[in-house]
Amino acid sequence: MSIQDNSRYHEVHARSLRDPLGFWGEAAAEIDWIEPAKKIFDPSLGLYGRWFAGAVVNTCYNALDRHVAGGRADQPALIHDSPLTNSVTTFTYAQMLREVQTLAAVMADFGVAKGDRVILYMPMVPEAVVAMLACARIGAVHSVVFGGFAAKELATRIEDAKPKLILSASCGLEPGRIVAYKPLLDEAIRLSSVKPQACIILQRPQQTCDLIKGRDHDWVTLRSAALAAGKTAACVPVSATDPLYILYTSGTTGKPKGVVRDNGGHLVALKWSMFNLYGIKPGEVWWCGSDIGWVVGHSYIVYAPLFHGATSIMYEGKPVGTPDAGALWRVIAQHKAVAHFTAPTAFRAIRKEDPVGKFIRQYDLSTFRTLFLAGERADPPTVEWAEQQLKVPVIDHWWQTETGWCIAGNPVGLGMLPVKHGSPTVPMPGYQVDVVDEAARPLPADTMGSIVIKLPMPPACLPTLWEQDERCREAYFDEFPGYYKTSDAGYKDADGYVYVMGRTDDIINVAGHRLSTGGMEEILASHPDVAECAVLGVKDAIKGEVPCGFLVLKAGVSRSPAEIEKDIVALVREKLGPVAAFKLAITVGRLPKTRSGKILRGTIKKIADGDPWTMPATIEDPKVLDEIGEALKGRV
Ligand code: COA
Ligand code: AMP
Repeated sequence: MSIQDNSRYHEVHARSLRDPLGFWGEAAAEIDWIEPAKKIFDPSLGLYGRWFAGAVVNTCYNALDRHVAGGRADQPALIHDSPLTNSVTTFTYAQMLREVQTLAAVMADFGVAKGDRVILYMPMVPEAVVAMLACARIGAVHSVVFGGFAAKELATRIEDAKPKLILSASCGLEPGRIVAYKPLLDEAIRLSSVKPQACIILQRPQQTCDLIKGRDHDWVTLRSAALAAGKTAACVPVSATDPLYILYTSGTTGKPKGVVRDNGGHLVALKWSMFNLYGIKPGEVWWCGSDIGWVVGHSYIVYAPLFHGATSIMYEGKPVGTPDAGALWRVIAQHKAVAHFTAPTAFRAIRKEDPVGKFIRQYDLSTFRTLFLAGERADPPTVEWAEQQLKVPVIDHWWQTETGWCIAGNPVGLGMLPVKHGSPTVPMPGYQVDVVDEAARPLPADTMGSIVIKLPMPPACLPTLWEQDERCREAYFDEFPGYYKTSDAGYKDADGYVYVMGRTDDIINVAGHRLSTGGMEEILASHPDVAECAVLGVKDAIKGEVPCGFLVLKAGVSRSPAEIEKDIVALVREKLGPVAAFKLAITVGRLPKTRSGKILRGTIKKIADGDPWTMPATIEDPKVLDEIGEALKGRV
């Protein structure tokens, strides 16, 4: 099929690659700079060059102050909608600015200054957004840790980021369960050799917590005192190349990677994306249903909608069960959202509960124009169902924590291209996406290979990993010289549409959450009765994939395999957190291996998924695969 369309996409994308300085220089005009860039791109800086070198800016100013000054003071900036607390709270741009100025002043009183790190371990409450923007205001570098991670994961991040301050809350809320954050925070600080100077704790009425004298401070008391004293904090000028935040993401070992985001490139690319990619106009209501602990939440709950002067909905609830599978439609109708961004897993969950879309028809969705999906591959049956039910374009788009915004998508503002199910469509401006073989040679259309991005990456993409240039180089730039390695595999078709089919490393995608099976194997292997183990992702109808652990027990263990399997499930929840959704541990006599001792994970996965498989030529003992098949019976 050849694409005939009226979209400006082809012209815009071609120009972004032909004249990147001109293209991004023009996009930068949408941002209020304190000093403009001396060089739009300086190839001599950093690992592959840096965007907007020499520019001075403040991210919070561009998110709040300039909109208040520019006539949006009374427009809602953030609508917090929480079916879990049965509340809706709206903050105008002026109210948000006041909250941010106050908290920024409180943090400054603790000695937090430009470049200092602040960890936020927060549930989906508006204070979390206030805290992110308050850090940006004073040039501090925030690192948000997702609430579904356990104490050990938080400890690793504290150890690496060395925060001066930690902001947290007494609890998070999950359907039917209160998640006490404070014991997790205390345990994480105990485990870490690095200790914060102080913690600021938001007491939520659903469950309060004890504060440790001398270390913990009550958020509300500090806020009230600062307001009473009339304290505010001005925007601190930072370099465009200074870090705005660190966001840890799963790497191929248990140690997460601290992806760094800079101020200038992030502002420019995210602002550009709001209209050109998502088709949103300033003043419109936009809803991204992620969590602020993930990159999607950083970019599209907090930063991009505010850079754009839009209204952002923050949702503390689930697509199903809070209270029913009509939750998404209720929120869209009630707040008149024009677009929603979520993960395909949310739609699989809704479809299961409401296959004929009876809830959809109970709400007035007349304002709703577009559904965006990302975080995992959007499987064609789910996309087709959503299209039929909603009668609006359903747009899959592909990105990663490392890029901070979309790599390939369908640009609504530039004019949509025809949708092809199974493809997130085409590379966004600044991205030259190639599919290559092991020797970094581009492959012909429709041929599977490694997906790579030609350097330099566009603005907003990671300049490095936090204090780990070398690890960054090794992880992303060494294997395919001149390219960034996405660690995704796939192909492009003759029209240039990208198809992202799966990871080339040990990362699995569970309900849109990125997890390392290597990290889980480290936990399984730490159990005293486990001799050997393998963790891999197996198909799941709702979550896409769920982890499954195979255990070989040490000779002579006295406890039953069932007991040890239960231990293992609890251990992963304790060490990694509930987000791992690790519920399946299966004891086997031995693991299938190649003659050189490599575990045949790919073959085990095919057997577990019920996919066709062939006997690997290099297998040490073919009989092991029958044993695996037996062990899996009735378990997956
Ligand atoms: N704090 C504490 N625990 C959390 C948590 C948090 N912030 N978020 C999730 N968890 C827990 C859940 O309660 C669950 O615990 P359980 O094992 O006791 O049931 C576990 O972690 C797994 O969570 P999840 O995989 O999210 O499953 P779920 O059953 O709670 O919900 C979906 C399934 C599909 C409804 C949910 O994953 C979802 O809404 N996904 C969409 C995400 C999205 O929109 N992402 C945006 C693009 S990245
Ligand atoms: P994260 O860094 O958590 O956003 O996860 C990024 C990974 O999720 C990517 O490398 C892909 O493997 C996967 N992913 C995200 N969006 C998509 C998509 N639209 N299609 C296919 N895979 C996706």
